[in-house]
Amino acid sequence: MDKNEKQQKYETLIEQVKAFSESERDEIALMANVAAIVHEAFHFWWTGFYRVAGQELVLGPFQGPVACTRIKFGRGVCGTAWKEKRTIVVEDVEQFPGHIACSSASRSEIVVPIFRDGEVVAELDIDSEKLATFDEIDKLYLEKIVENLRLTA
Ligand code: SME
Repeated sequence: MDKNEKQQKYETLIEQVKAFSESERDEIALMANVAAIVHEAFHFWWTGFYRVAGQELVLGPFQGPVACTRIKFGRGVCGTAWKEKRTIVVEDVEQFPGHIACSSASRSEIVVPIFRDGEVVAELDIDSEKLATFDEIDKLYLEKIVENLRLTA
């Protein structure tokens, strides 16, 4: 997929996420539909959400194979993105110290934190079965997507 096609797909997704957020306030319902549209648009290996619950992330709505249900603060890519309060792009998961392999098919990953009042409340996590799938365009647009996801719960 070339750069323009990717950007166009993301622009369409952002409009859909805005529409979802305007018509539905339930956090789980919103996450479920966002996971579905992102997954359908790009055919990633795994697309889903983790939600902060105390000192752990707990699995939320997702599309793809069965995944780890709980991840501790600071552990793996997800726990690190939470601790560092930033998006993490991993070109090769085998090179990321402490990467948690929910699936051996996963080769690259992006984790985008979702903030409320400056604190991480959830994350969008996407895995690819190909190396170096995610770049600055994915980071930019996925951050926009989660900014447009109005979580109220
Ligand atoms: N690989 C993640 C765990 C979540 S699964 O990819 C769905 C991590 O290292 O935190």
